[in-house]
Formats: sequence, C-alpha cells, structure tokens
Amino acid sequence: MAAREQPVEQLNVGDPEFWQEGPPLELFARMRAECPVHWSGPPGPQDMPGFWSVTRAKDIEAVSRDWKTYSSQRTGIDNLDNKVITELDNKTFIAMDPPRHDRFKTLFLERFTPSRIAADEPWIRGIVDTVFSRIEGRETVDLVEEVAQPIVSRVIHGMCGIPEEEDAKWAAYMNRYMAREDPGYNPGGLDEYVNEFVPFLVREATKMIEPRRRADAGPNPGTEDLISVMVNGEVEGAPLTDEEIAMTILLVLSAGNDSTKSTYVSAMKALMEHPDQLQLLVDDPSLIPSAVEEALRMFPPFTSFCRTATRDVELGGKLVRENEKVAMWYSSGNRDESRYENPDVFDVRRNPEHQAFGGGGRHFCLGAALARLELRLMIEGTLKRYPGIRLAGETSRASSYSLNQYTAMPVRLR
Ligand code: HEM
Repeated sequence: MAAREQPVEQLNVGDPEFWQEGPPLELFARMRAECPVHWSGPPGPQDMPGFWSVTRAKDIEAVSRDWKTYSSQRTGIDNLDNKVITELDNKTFIAMDPPRHDRFKTLFLERFTPSRIAADEPWIRGIVDTVFSRIEGRETVDLVEEVAQPIVSRVIHGMCGIPEEEDAKWAAYMNRYMAREDPGYNPGGLDEYVNEFVPFLVREATKMIEPRRRADAGPNPGTEDLISVMVNGEVEGAPLTDEEIAMTILLVLSAGNDSTKSTYVSAMKALMEHPDQLQLLVDDPSLIPSAVEEALRMFPPFTSFCRTATRDVELGGKLVRENEKVAMWYSSGNRDESRYENPDVFDVRRNPEHQAFGGGGRHFCLGAALARLELRLMIEGTLKRYPGIRLAGETSRASSYSLNQYTAMPVRLR
C-alpha cells in the first residue's frame, strides 16, 4: 500500500523512502494534522529503537524548554543510540544538562554576543570578497564547494586560530563527521565511523591543544582564539580535560562549517527558482535580513535535534515513557500552518520567527548572531556581483536524517 493511503500512525519517519528528496515535508504536514506527537519504529534511523516525533511548533517549544523532563544528556541529542558516540558527545555542552551545561557554555558567550559578532562584519566581508575574487571571470562555479564552503570555513577556523592552509582539510573532516549516514562520505558505514573515524578526529583535535598551553607557541600566539579560551578556562573550578576540549572543538568546527553553508545554498536555490523574489533583493538589499530569516525558516540546516524523557510524561495526549527518545522536527515546526500563512511559500518579505536555531531554552544556538551575519554578507555579496545568477545543472544532496544539505550546486554566474 502506498504510504499516502496508510494511516499515519503506521508510518515510520525513519523509513529511507521518505527521505529521497530531503526532509519529508508532505509526511510532516500529515503528522501535524493527524498525529502531531507520533511514534515510529522500531527500527529508527540506523537501527535505533523507536522514537517519538514532535511536529508542531508549540510542542517543539514545550520539549525544548523543559530540560528537566527532556534531557540532552541522557542519550545525547543525536538520532542515534550508540554508546560510544553518546559518551563522547556528553563531553561537550550541547549534550549536557544544567547546571554543567550552563557553566560550560558561559566560556563562549562573550565571544558570540550580537555586539561582539557585529564587530566582525568588516573581517567577514573581507573573507567574502577574497573568495569571490578567486572566481572572478568564471562563467560557472559550484556554489557549495567554491563559494559557501571556503567562506564559512575561513570564518570559523579564523575564530579558532586554525591557519588558512588547513581550511580544506578541516572542512572535509567536518563534512564527513556531520554526514554520518551518507555512504559517499562514509563508505565504511557506522562501524568504521564510530570505531575509526571519530577516534581519529578526536586525536586530530587534541593536537591543537598543546601548542596553546605554551604562551609563546601555537598558530596565533597571544590571541584568545576559541580553542585557547577552553585551554585557559575553567568550568566549576577545574580546567577542562583534553577530551572535553577536543569534543568541543569538533562541535564548534562542525557547527561553523556546516549549517550556514547549507542555509545559504538552499536560500540561493530558492532565489534562483523564484526570480521575482531574487529581483526584490537586488532592487532593495535592505530586504536581505528578512530573506535570511525566511531561508532559515524554510531550510533549517538541521532537521531536528533529540531529547530523552527523564520520566513518564504526557505529551500531546500521548504517553512518552522514561528513556524514550523525542525528535523535535524543526523542518516541520517551521511550516506549521497554525503559525504561518501559506507556509510552503518562499516570501523574502515575511521576516518570520522560526525554530531553525532550536525551540528555545538552554540550548539555543550559540552561533545564531554569527550565522545571521554570515548569511547576510554571503547573499549580499552574491547578488551584488551576480544579479543574473541561475542554476546550471544537477544538484546533489547529503543523505541524512538530520542534515538538510546540498553537496553540489552548479550555477551560471552571468
Ligand atoms: C544557519 C546556521 C545555524 C543553525 C540553523 C544552527 C542551529 C542550531 C540548533 C537548532 C541548535 C540547538 C541544539 C539543541 O537544542 O539541542 C544549535 C546549537 C548550537 N549551535 Fe548552532 N546553528 C547554526 C550555526 C552555528 C554556528 C555558526 C555556530 C558556531 C559556533 C553554532 C554553534 C552552536 C553551538 C555551540 C550549539 C550548542 C548550544 C548549546 O547546547 O547550548 N551554530 N544550533
């Protein structure tokens, strides 16, 4: 029986059939209407036991804001039940609960305030200019590899004191780290990923700690790059362990290398597919910040993050039992028809609120101000130079339940 004819309760959100073209938006619309808190499986993605899906914006907020009932720590925030990965993830604050989460995150807050990030604008604009100068005179380019990736990599690596010569290497590592389920990035499957690749990455990240312990050494001696902040910082009166620092390096590098790139590329695709919307931004660039929010709403780079129930709890009329996993599908909440008129219409003037940076609460995205600034400068930089930009061939996507990401997008610049 076709999925469309089956009761939605019987469908498994983890069924790869739904994910061929990216997040299953049609299925999410049905779930919001017919079964907004929904049980899938088993199996879930990558053989995890069953899991709950939360699809309406208000339920996502309820889960996201109640860390006592819905823990980030218990089995991590991933859609995967793997002890090795959870134990490693628990070394960094995205997969911790308060109070340690809050104390750990505090190390970084100052560097990511909107005013501190605003001061980075000239520096980031310079990076955008440099990357565009490399493709000057070209007719066609790949928007992912030749525009988005080098910009976001230089920004986050610059903030971490990683030299430019290492940008491509770390970008490749992070693409593989994030696209765990994609056989193109991880041909050896989950076993190789967990037992070889991730330990290798932890060793690579650990190598960046020692030079920063010596005041006169390291790639950026004397500067407070984000890695040095951790090396010199304390949480709850004690220095961080090497493993905690290494896993947080991977968290920051993966967030910085991945998410903004994905939303920029999806935003550009939507603009190229809707030339009227593109023209609005060319004619009035002051609309770009609103377009950024609309792109974040429609194309959140992370489809979901998960929580684990710490007790039996009622949610949307369903009984969620202790230790069951709950996925908050931002890709669905951001199209909730009770919040948005014509949610599937891309409207650069909408300037919406959304859940791309999470459903609120303690884990709200650390990098939100940075991501917004990067997105604005990247879209501005592109449209200023290439107002006639258009798609020029087949795109490809990462195969993933948690990423919403193009891996290639050929475009004609003029
Ligand atoms: C379009 C860009 C981005 C989007 C949509 C995004 C989305 C998110 C989301 C949804 C969360 C919440 C996770 C949860 O509730 O479990 C999060 C957390 C986080 N993000 Fe972002 N992110 C973006 C860019 C960045 C950037 C550029 C950085 C750079 C450092 C960053 C660093 C982090 C960190 C460290 C956390 C963990 C916060 C915590 O647990 O308290 N993000 N992000």
